[in-house]
Amino acid sequence: MKPLKSESVNCLQGTVHVPADKSISHRALMIGALAVGETRIDGLLEGEDVQKTSIALRNLGVVIEKKAFGSWLVKGRGVCGLIEPVRVLDMGNSGTAARLLLGVLAAHPFSATLSGDASLSSRPMGRVIKPLKAMGAIFHSRSDGRLPISITGNVDPMPIDYELPVASAQVKSSILLAGLGAAGRTQVIEPKPTRNHTELMLRHFGAEVDVKDLQGGARSVSLKGQPELNARNVNVPGDISSAAFPMIASLLTPGSRVTIKGVGINPLRAGLLEVLKKMGGSIILANKSTEAGEPVADLIVEGSSLKGVTVAPDHAPSMIDEYPILAVCAACAKGTTRLEGLSELRVKESDRLDSMARGLEACGVDLEEGEDFLVIHGDGSVPRGGAKITTALDHRIAMSFLVLGTVTTKPIIIDDEEPIETSFPGFVELMNGLGSHITEP
Ligand code: S3P
Repeated sequence: MKPLKSESVNCLQGTVHVPADKSISHRALMIGALAVGETRIDGLLEGEDVQKTSIALRNLGVVIEKKAFGSWLVKGRGVCGLIEPVRVLDMGNSGTAARLLLGVLAAHPFSATLSGDASLSSRPMGRVIKPLKAMGAIFHSRSDGRLPISITGNVDPMPIDYELPVASAQVKSSILLAGLGAAGRTQVIEPKPTRNHTELMLRHFGAEVDVKDLQGGARSVSLKGQPELNARNVNVPGDISSAAFPMIASLLTPGSRVTIKGVGINPLRAGLLEVLKKMGGSIILANKSTEAGEPVADLIVEGSSLKGVTVAPDHAPSMIDEYPILAVCAACAKGTTRLEGLSELRVKESDRLDSMARGLEACGVDLEEGEDFLVIHGDGSVPRGGAKITTALDHRIAMSFLVLGTVTTKPIIIDDEEPIETSFPGFVELMNGLGSHITEP
C-alpha cells in the first residue's frame, strides 16, 4: 500500500494529454486479434487493465509487439483463430477485459480459465455467463458466477436474440464478440443505449452491424456472424473518464484554465459534459475531428462557480464511471445535487456508492445515501477534508479524493495510489504539472 496526500492549491493552468481511452484500447486489441492481417494501434492505453488484455491475447496465440510508446502492432489470427492457452489468464482488476474476453472465448472450441484480483473476483459474471451459455459455451465458476471461471467455447456458437436485463456495454459487447463466430445474426436489445465502441470498431474492421432505435429509448444492435475482419489502423482518443479528473479539478479552483487535448467525446460517453455545463461549468469544445468513427475534441476548462443539479437515471449509461468525481464536484457546488439510478455503481471495482458516501462524509460533506441514489448538500464553500480514504482497489475512488484534496481546507490522504495505474499512468505527474500538490504523506 502506497499512501498519497493531496493539499489545496490556488489554481491550475496548462495544456495536457490524458491517457488513451480504456474501453477503446481493450476493443482495439481484441478485435485486432480476430482480424486477418496486422493492425497498428496508436495511442493505446498502457495502463495495467489493458496490459492484462494484451498478455491474455498473447497467451491465446496472438503476436502483439510494442513499436514505441503507445504504438502497438497486433498480428491477427482471424475470427475464431485463437489457440488454447497453457496458462490461467489473469484479468487483474479489469471487468471489461474479463467480460469481453469471455465473449471472444465462447466462440472458440477449447477450455480456458480466467482469474482476477480480489476486487474483480467479487464482481458478478453471471450477466455474461447466462447469454454465453445460451450460445453454447460451458462454464465452471465459483459460487454466484464469480471468478475464477473456466469456459469451454463452442465450435459452432448459436446466434441469439438477447434482451439485456441491465444496460451494460460490457455484456452487449461480450455477446457481439461471441456472435462473430455464429452462423447467422446475433441481436442484443439494450434498455438504454450504452457506449457503442464495439459496434464502431467492428464496423471499422469490416463487420456488418445494424443499429435500430426502439420504443421507450431501447436500442437493438445486431451483427452478421462469421464476417471476415480485415486489419485496420486505429488511433485511440484520450479517455473522457480520465479527463474528468483534471477537468473537475480545474472547474473547482477559481482562476484555473486548462486545455485537455484530443479527448473522445462520443455522445454515449460524454454525459458528464452536459451535467457539468448545467451546473454552470465553463467547458469549451475545440478542434473537433473523428478517429475510427469516434468523435474527438480538445476541452478548454475554466474555474467556475457551480450549482447543484438533479441527474436523472437516464443519464447513467453515458457517464457511469464519472459519478465518483461528479460527487466530489457536487460536494463543492452551491445547493443540492441528486444523483439517481445508481444501482450499477454497487458492482464496480468497489461499491462506489458506499465508497463515495463514506469518504465524503469523512471529509465533512452533508449527504444522504439510498440503495440507488446519492443526495449531496453543498453550501458553495469548500469541504473540510482532513480524512484518510480507503480506496478499496478502486482507481476512480483514489483519483476522485485526490482531486477533492486540491480544494479542501485540510489535506486528504488516500491509503493506496497503486490502483491508479489501472487506467491513468502518470496521474500524479500530470496533476502536479497543472499545479496540484500531491505528494507522499
Ligand atoms: C465499459 C462499460 C461500463 C464501464 C466500464 C467500461 C466498457 O461497464 O463501467 O468501466 O468498456 O464496456 P458496464 O458495461 O458494466 O456498465
